[in-house]
Amino acid sequence: MKEHHYFDNASTSWPKPEAVYAFMDSFFRSHGVNPGRSGYQLAIEAEQMIGETRRLLAAFFGFGGDPNRVVFTQNATDSLNIALFGLLGPGDHVVSTRLEHNSVLRPLYHLQRESRVEATLVGRDAQGYVDPNDIRSALRARTRVVVVNHASNVLGSLQDLDAIAEVVATSDALLMVDTCQSAGVVPIDMDASGIDVLAFTGHKGLFGPSGIGGLIVREGIDIRPLRMGGTGADSLLPFQPESYPHHLEAGTVSVPGIAGLNAAQKWFAELGREREGEHLSHTDACRAALHSIDAVERAHIARLDTALRDIEGVQVHGPAGNRARVAVLSMNIAGIPAEQTGAMLDADHHVCVRSGLHCAPLVHEDQSTVGQLGTVRFSPGYFTEDDDIEMAIKAVRELACT
Ligand SMILES: Cc1ncc(COP(=O)(O)O)c(C=O)c1O
Repeated sequence: MKEHHYFDNASTSWPKPEAVYAFMDSFFRSHGVNPGRSGYQLAIEAEQMIGETRRLLAAFFGFGGDPNRVVFTQNATDSLNIALFGLLGPGDHVVSTRLEHNSVLRPLYHLQRESRVEATLVGRDAQGYVDPNDIRSALRARTRVVVVNHASNVLGSLQDLDAIAEVVATSDALLMVDTCQSAGVVPIDMDASGIDVLAFTGHKGLFGPSGIGGLIVREGIDIRPLRMGGTGADSLLPFQPESYPHHLEAGTVSVPGIAGLNAAQKWFAELGREREGEHLSHTDACRAALHSIDAVERAHIARLDTALRDIEGVQVHGPAGNRARVAVLSMNIAGIPAEQTGAMLDADHHVCVRSGLHCAPLVHEDQSTVGQLGTVRFSPGYFTEDDDIEMAIKAVRELACT
């Protein structure tokens, strides 16, 4: 009997691959020094590990540019703030969607209120898909950025990035993508998809620890730094250096966090090579791994989806059938507020879910779930087991039938 049946991987993935815990521990013990600040061997080696992680992540995301354009941040919220505040100014227009997380919405509302930036938020269909033509209609001559959530953290719907990119490419706007719920599950090819700025968080599908994230910025794009400070180099310069990553990376980075991401990247590659051959490049090995991870997660979500839709009184939101999605499923039980459902699943069955608005208020306005105080969200992961799914279904059935 398990102590917990964890269904909150959309909040943060747990557990992590063993290799992540092991390398974070060993590297922090052996190289817990300040990288890029000092010339001694240990500091140089710590810096080398960080440089290697930038290269691994660039390859993982199909970014063929300079790996120094992979900038480490605290999380996706930090990345999105840096990018939005650093790109948008008075008179600019930005297009986004009603599926966004508050890490996009709040900076945009703030910029609208304080800096005469105008935002247009396009809607989506009942299952959570944005029509690229709606983005086309929203574009203006002054549109500087189109920022979209790749996969909804409430509904699990996965947007057709290539179709959106094609529309954005007809304008002068930059395409910025929030990959929080898709990175580590769905292959993302920044170059092939024409993504200009990519925000990722380390602690979800990328299997790193909390407190680390990043931003990948295509060459030629100028993001004004939001934070200024020490970079360990060019200290005589009065302003933040123009060169990346220091242009956007001020202060000491998280060595344990980056070590975790480093080990996770190698774990992805090893999984892919085990399945499809030792000869694969990092990019191809990771894509092979994602194929397996996605298959496992989709099987879990398909079982949950089918079983939950069959229970009387249960309403499942979001994608139905074979539409493109990630393993995030929102539901409600008639007559029980979402938070109460979540609390009872935990107390009675040790099923850990997230209940509420999931920091995406507009999704609930459109879904009419504000009155139920949001939805109950199940997000299985690669390490979820069949008995977890069975327990979740049994638990919801019991709750719905009492
Ligand atoms: C779609 C989406 N965007 C942004 C975020 C913010 O991520 P973080 O809390 O790691 O900054 C999340 C996290 O829940 C998310 O699901």
